[in-house]
Amino acid sequence: MYKTIRCDPKLFDKDLSGHVYIVTGANSGSGLATTEQLVRQGAHVIAACRRVSAGQEATKHLSGQKGSVEVMELDLGSLASVRRFAGLVKDKHQQLHGLVNNAGVMSTPQGKTEDGFETQFGVNHLGHFLLTELLLDLLRSGAPSRIVCVSSLAHAGMQKRSATIDFDDLFYEKRKYDAVEAYCQSKLAIVIYARHLAKRLDGTGVSAFSTHPGWIRSNLIKHTMPPWIQNILMRPFSGMLTMMSAEDGAQTQLHCLLDDDAPAHSGEYYSQNGLLYPNKENRAGGWPMRSPNPLTYDDEVAERLFETSLELVGLKNG
Ligand SMILES: NC(=O)c1ccc[n+]([C@@H]2O[C@H](COP(=O)([O-])OP(=O)(O)OC[C@H]3O[C@@H](n4cnc5c(N)ncnc54)[C@H](OP(=O)(O)O)[C@@H]3O)[C@@H](O)[C@H]2O)c1
Repeated sequence: MYKTIRCDPKLFDKDLSGHVYIVTGANSGSGLATTEQLVRQGAHVIAACRRVSAGQEATKHLSGQKGSVEVMELDLGSLASVRRFAGLVKDKHQQLHGLVNNAGVMSTPQGKTEDGFETQFGVNHLGHFLLTELLLDLLRSGAPSRIVCVSSLAHAGMQKRSATIDFDDLFYEKRKYDAVEAYCQSKLAIVIYARHLAKRLDGTGVSAFSTHPGWIRSNLIKHTMPPWIQNILMRPFSGMLTMMSAEDGAQTQLHCLLDDDAPAHSGEYYSQNGLLYPNKENRAGGWPMRSPNPLTYDDEVAERLFETSLELVGLKNG
C-alpha cells in the first residue's frame, strides 16, 4: 500500500495576505482544492475558468474567508482567449506570486482547438505555454514567485503507450490518433517545458516545477468512463488503487508553492504516489523525484520543444 504524501501542516499556517495567484481550471478537482487552500491562507486567487458561471458557483463558499477569489474567463483551447485573459490580468495586477497551470483534458476524442492544434496538446501544453510566457514579467515583478505545471505520471507512458514528442506529427495528422498516447505526449511536453523554464529563469527568483498530482476522484476521466464509476463505484477501493480526494490531489502543487526548500529544486518533477507507474520503485512518488522518462532530461528535445511552441503560439518574433 502506498501512502498519500501530504504537506507539512506548518505550510498551511503561512500568511499569504497580499499574494496574488492564478489557478487554471479552478472550478473543479485539484484546481478548486488548491484555490480553497490559498484563499484560506489570505491570498487573492484569480480563478481562471473556461466557464465563468461554473467558477463562480464552485468558489462562492469562499466568500468570508481570509483571502479572496476573482473568477475570470480563460479558454486554453483558444490563443485569443489566452491573450485576452493575460491582458486583463495585466490591466489589474502589477505582480504575480504564483501561477498554477492546473487545467487539463484527458483522452479526448480526436479534435482540434480553435487554432487547429490537436486538442490535448493544444489545451494542456500550448495554451499554458502561451499563458506562462505572457505572464513572465508579472511573475518576475512578484519574485520570489513560483510556477507549477501540473503534468501526470502519464508523461512517462501509460496503458502500454510510451510517451514521446513526435515533432514530425505533433497533431496526429499523419499517424492514427490514439487518445491515451496524445495525453502522454501533452503531459511530457509539460514536464520538459517546466525544466527548460526553470533554467531560463535561473537567478530571477522565479522557480518552476512539474507535478503528478495523484489519481484524483474528479471529472477528468469523463472521456474514458462515466465519472460516477470511478468516483462512487470504485471509491471503496480508493486506498488500494491510490485514488484520492481533490484535497489530497492538491498537496503536491501546494508543497511546490509554499515549501521554503522548493526553490532549490526548481525545474524538478514532484510526484504524488501512483499505482500506474510501470516501475515499482516509482510508485511511492517523491517530492522531488527523478522522472522515469529520460526525455525529461534531454536538453536538445527541450530546446526544440521551446522553439516549436514559440512558433505555434505566435511568439517567435517577440
Ligand atoms: N484526476 C487525476 O487522476 C489526474 C492524474 C494525473 C494528472 N491529473 C491532472 O490534474 C489536473 C487537474 O485535473 P482534475 O483531476 O482536477 O480534473 P477536473 O476536475 O476535470 O479539472 C479539470 C479542469 O480543467 C478545466 N479545463 C478543461 N479544458 C479547459 C480549457 N480549454 N480551458 C480552460 N480550462 C479547461 C476544466 O474546466 P471545465 O469544468 O469547464 O471542463 C476543469 O476546471 C489536470 O491537468 C490533469 O491532467 C489528474
